Amino acid sequence: MSATTAPSTSATPDDLAGRMFSSVINAMEVFCVYVGDQLGFYRALHEGGAMTSTELARRAGTNERYTREWLEQQATAGYLACDNPEAPAGERSFSLPEGYETVFVEPESLSGMASFVQLLVGTLAPVHQLLEAFRTGDGVPYADYGEDLHEGQARANRPAFTHLLAQEWIAAMPDIAVRLHADPPARIADIGMGQGWSSIALAKAFPRARIDGLDLDEASVAAARENVRAAGVAERVAMHVRDAGDPELAGHYDLALAVECIHDMADPVGVLDAMRRLVGPDGTVLIVDERVPDAFAPNGDEIERMMYGFSVLHCLPVGMVDTPSVETGTVMRRATFRRYAEEAGFSQVDELPVEHETFRFYRLRG
Ligand SMILES: C[S@@+](CC[C@H](N)C(=O)[O-])C[C@H]1O[C@@H](n2cnc3c(N)ncnc32)[C@H](O)[C@@H]1O
Repeated sequence: MSATTAPSTSATPDDLAGRMFSSVINAMEVFCVYVGDQLGFYRALHEGGAMTSTELARRAGTNERYTREWLEQQATAGYLACDNPEAPAGERSFSLPEGYETVFVEPESLSGMASFVQLLVGTLAPVHQLLEAFRTGDGVPYADYGEDLHEGQARANRPAFTHLLAQEWIAAMPDIAVRLHADPPARIADIGMGQGWSSIALAKAFPRARIDGLDLDEASVAAARENVRAAGVAERVAMHVRDAGDPELAGHYDLALAVECIHDMADPVGVLDAMRRLVGPDGTVLIVDERVPDAFAPNGDEIERMMYGFSVLHCLPVGMVDTPSVETGTVMRRATFRRYAEEAGFSQVDELPVEHETFRFYRLRG
């Protein structure tokens, strides 16, 4: 993914109409990817090789006519190959081109996009509540976004947790990496861990460490517990339904981590303050949040456009449920975060020298 700049507003109305037409087609194709992901079509094609609509429908347990339409749509969009397009409809054979499984099937692929599609579909689940929230100024609860958003979010970040969290992000703090491997077993607080993939990745990378995940969303915590159990790390990883801003939070941790959630919170200063107390004077807080430019500017690049899209559809409404709220939204600029950290009592805010297209890494010390 490379960040390209959007057309400027000097585009003519015809240019704009053309751009919108392409966007609508792209959006429809995204929703058709969701269909293929959720019904297991991509996985079936990856595992089973080229298939007719009848074969895919049998394998996926779906209706042949619907399945055929999806296959033809996917080939038309260029996502699937069709070796014999001239054949009668029921005899056409479709396949997932080699390598495309990294985009559509593999759960830990850094090129994975089916997760991102599910996340996008999830943002639309409470769309009428969102419209009402725009009118009233109320929020839209995280729980109301439902399974697609929760699971899509978890799936979208899972590859980065598996391949980068310990290997690059923690490694950029060598003193912490040493501590997490040492005895007595280090303790990690994973704040707003959602479905738990960050906690699981940490447990696997640091086989002595003990991890507590704290998240407000009951459904996410239930899924996290199941994921932790299936990953075989339940002895060292505990998932709690807990408000990370609770002033009564107790414990002593070597590292407190929060990935992609500070900008969602009504009271980020309260949560950062709780994290500071959890690690004490010798511990470290690591905040992973959005890499956005330092100032607003029209005609942003793709990353900025994506951040504002998520902000309007999800992050700002979620952050406006509790009152009072600082009303941050996804586009949490560097200066805004630094102010939150200072107000929470941190004296040092360092940015880790980690290259990442969408995340920025703040190491905080009290
Ligand atoms: C965008 S999701 C990120 C989940 C996970 N860290 C990831 O990267 O996939 C934000 C998470 O923060 C949680 N959250 C928001 N406010 C919270 C709070 N005050 N205490 C604990 N969790 C909170 C939400 O329930 C949600 O699971």
